[in-house]
Amino acid sequence: DYQPVREDKFTFGLWTVGWRGVNTFGEPVRPVLDPVEAVRRLSDLGAYGVTFHDDDLIPPGSDAAAREQVLKRFRGALEETGLVVPMATTNLFSDPVFRDGGFTSNSRDVRRYALRKVLRNIDLAAEMGAHTYVCWGGQDGAETEAGKNGRAALDRLREAFDFLCAYVREQGYGLRFALEPKPNEPRGDVLLPTVGHALAFINELEHPEMVGVNPEVGHEQMAGLNFAHGIAQALWHGKLYHIDLNGQRGVKYDQDLRFGAGDLKEAFFLVDLLENAGYTGPRHFDFKPPRTEDMDGVWASAAGCMRNYLILREKAAAFRADPEVRAALEASRVGELSEPTLREGESVADLLGEELDLPAVGERGYHFERLDQLALDHLMGVR
Ligand code: GCO
Ligand code: MN
Ligand code: MN
Ligand code: MN
Repeated sequence: DYQPVREDKFTFGLWTVGWRGVNTFGEPVRPVLDPVEAVRRLSDLGAYGVTFHDDDLIPPGSDAAAREQVLKRFRGALEETGLVVPMATTNLFSDPVFRDGGFTSNSRDVRRYALRKVLRNIDLAAEMGAHTYVCWGGQDGAETEAGKNGRAALDRLREAFDFLCAYVREQGYGLRFALEPKPNEPRGDVLLPTVGHALAFINELEHPEMVGVNPEVGHEQMAGLNFAHGIAQALWHGKLYHIDLNGQRGVKYDQDLRFGAGDLKEAFFLVDLLENAGYTGPRHFDFKPPRTEDMDGVWASAAGCMRNYLILREKAAAFRADPEVRAALEASRVGELSEPTLREGESVADLLGEELDLPAVGERGYHFERLDQLALDHLMGVR
C-alpha cells in the first residue's frame, strides 16, 4: 500500500520534477515541465504541497502582464487540487550576474540586486501563504582565498538577513527564514558549509528567532557528516524550520538522489528521529530524477521518495514497539542519558564525596551491537 495522503505533508520543489537533466557534461534531456502540470501530477501522487524559486514559476524577464497570467494559472491549479505552498525560495545562482554569489558577491550592485530579487519573491511567498522562506546561497563562496574576504562576506550575509527580517516584520508577514548549508558545488567552497556553521551564524543576527535551518540530507553527507546527528542538534536548538530530503552516496558531488537511495540506514534513523522528536513541518523532497529517466521515470522517482519515507516510518515504529528492542535499549542504558547528571540542589561536596568503582564500571559493556542489529533486522524486513 504505502499510498501517501495529504496528512503526511509531503512537498516537492517545482525544480525537482521539473529538472531537465542538464549536467556539467550533458545537455537537457527532458522537456520543460509546466508548473500547472507539476501541481496536478504531484497531487495525484498524494503530495501535500509544492515549493518554488521565483524563476521556476515566473520565467525571468516576464513583464507584469505575463507574470500575472502565470500566477493566475498556478493559483488555479492549487485551488483545483488543494495543494499548498508552505515554502518558497529565490534563485540567486543561475543568472550570470551571480557568478560570484548574491548576498556576498564582491560587487555591491549585484548584492543590491539580489536583495531586490528576494524582496519581490517574499511578497509572493507571503501572498501564497508560505510560512518558510529558504535561502540557499549556492554561488556564495570561493575558489580562492585571495579573492574573498571571508569575514567581510559574513558581515554582508548578516546585513542581508537583518535587512530581510526587518522587512518581514514591517510587512507583518508570518514568514521565517531557513538557511540551507552546503559544503561545495557549485562553488569550490560554499559559505556556511554545514548545519553547525549556519547555527553559529544565526546567533549573530538581530532577530535570531526568525531564522533557522533547512538541512539537506546529501549536503551534510557530502561533508562526510552524519545527517541524523545534524538534525538532532538543529532540533535541540529549536532551529529545524524545514528539511530537504534526498539521497547521497558518500563524499562526492551533490547527487540529489531520491529519498531512500544512498545511505538507507541513515535514512531509517532520520525518519525515526523526525517522527519521534515532534517535527511537524513539511517533509520536503529536494532531489533530481537522474538524467537517464524520461517523464515517466520522473514521476516514478517522485513516488519513490514518498513510498520510501512511508516504509521507513513503518519500520521505525515497529522497531520502537518491539519488546526485544525495548529490552535492548534498557540494556544499552539509552534512557539513562535523559537523566540529569546532577541531582536537584546537589552540592559540589556531594559530588566530590562520591566514588566510582573504576574496575567494575570499566568492565561495563554497552551492547550497542545487539541493539544496532535489531535495527538492521527491522530495516531488512526479517523481524
Ligand atoms: C542543492 C540545493 C538546491 C536548493 C534549492 C533551494 O541541491 O544544491 O539543495 O536544490 O535546495 O535550490 O534554493
Ligand atoms: Mn543537493
Ligand atoms: Mn536543497
Ligand atoms: Mn537540490
